[in-house]
Amino acid sequence: MVKPMTQFGGNDESIRMEGKKPLGGRIRIQGSKNAALPVLAACMLIPGKCVLRGCPNITDIECMCSLLKSTGAVVDTEELLADNRIVVDTRSVRERRLPEKYVSAMRSSVVLMGAMLGRLGEVCVNYPGGCVIGERPIDLHLYGLEKLGAQIWTEGNHIHAYADELKGAVIEFPFSSVGATQNVILAAVTAQGTTVIKNAAREPEVIELCKFLNLAGASIDYAGTFFKSGRIEIHGVELSRLHGVDYTVIPDRIVAGTYLFATMVSGGKVTLENIPIGQLGSVCDIITGMGADIEMDAARSEITVNACDRDRIKNLPYIETDVYPAFPTDLQSLLLAAACTAKGELRIRERIFSSRFRIVEELKRMGADIAIEGDTAIVTGDRELEGRTVIAKELRGGAALVIAGLGASGITTVADSGYIRRGYQNIVGDLSELGARIRYVN
Ligand code: UD1
Repeated sequence: MVKPMTQFGGNDESIRMEGKKPLGGRIRIQGSKNAALPVLAACMLIPGKCVLRGCPNITDIECMCSLLKSTGAVVDTEELLADNRIVVDTRSVRERRLPEKYVSAMRSSVVLMGAMLGRLGEVCVNYPGGCVIGERPIDLHLYGLEKLGAQIWTEGNHIHAYADELKGAVIEFPFSSVGATQNVILAAVTAQGTTVIKNAAREPEVIELCKFLNLAGASIDYAGTFFKSGRIEIHGVELSRLHGVDYTVIPDRIVAGTYLFATMVSGGKVTLENIPIGQLGSVCDIITGMGADIEMDAARSEITVNACDRDRIKNLPYIETDVYPAFPTDLQSLLLAAACTAKGELRIRERIFSSRFRIVEELKRMGADIAIEGDTAIVTGDRELEGRTVIAKELRGGAALVIAGLGASGITTVADSGYIRRGYQNIVGDLSELGARIRYVN
């Protein structure tokens, strides 16, 4: 059963499991956190009622809903637990200052800046928080909003942004940023004239935001050569042209990848339903390269992974994370966990975030052999992992410790597992359904 949210961001829980049991069966993949969050922020821009289906019941979504409510929006989450549905009505928004408690808890709160500038012409936030996975500046966000005509100044830890009128501009990012691209899109929807974003992020979650906004009456051109050029054109429309929509969130490619690696580690065979098959190319290439079999059923949006023959599972020599469609940084820790028990050596280079190897010390305590050289982790595989009490320090690293526990002998306890509920609706329920001996302990 999906655990109801009891306390926002609460970390005082642990997940305990007994490893070495092959997973089997089928489960359905939840809606995407990284697609749902900016879409919820986009609701701020729309003076109407939006119905979002397929929203994951996770603490980051709960946090975004609290942020929307704090501005005066009416957010109905009654059906989030039972039916993954949220209804947002922002007709009554008035507050321009976002509460520090929620902004500090979640980095993607920063995309509310673009939406609130577009809707209210003003916003005040503190510097955003989020998982500690390295330096996470917001200079590109602020650069983009300033180019659109916003005046931005800081007072202590607070950022104020104000615009009498936003005006379309050409914004060229020096490198691709998912959040900064989304922020600029949100601010540009109701700006006067046309905005051109060059070197926009090409992640599927950016496209989803554009699709959602276009459904709601925006005019965003992301087709044509977008994938090659990273160019998005936003033709500003009057705020009054935007209207409420009924929208279904896409499935979560990172959760899907997590369960693919979980199956590899456990040596099982699992079918995943509601899969964004087209978005998982790099991940499936790695899984098959490591010796597991993958069958795809595009018509049913299903993937079956078979890793029953553990003897065939070996490491690829070198993998690096990069922007979409390359191997995603959000799955780097999961791959690291899977590599510990596979045969041979893997060198994995982290190219997006600087501190994404915080899980390594915990994995080493379980018996993994991993060395860090700058931005590269070198895993010497074929190690027997032993169950231990390990500590989750962030969302994906926490999930990776659970996956490592599935392949370890004895009992593994992942403490501070509240981090995992930022992004996984039901990791314990899903893995139990696949036959894992796993439960929450307090
Ligand atoms: C989003 C995802 C996160 C994913 C990441 C990369 C959400 C809610 N989060 O995060 O899960 O890991 O994309 O795919 O969608 N940067 C700057 N200045 C900025 C903005 C970013 O230097 O103003 C840097 C970051 O430090 C990082 C890189 O750019 O090194 C990419 O970050 P970005 O794409 O912005 O990630 P997020 O949007 O924060």
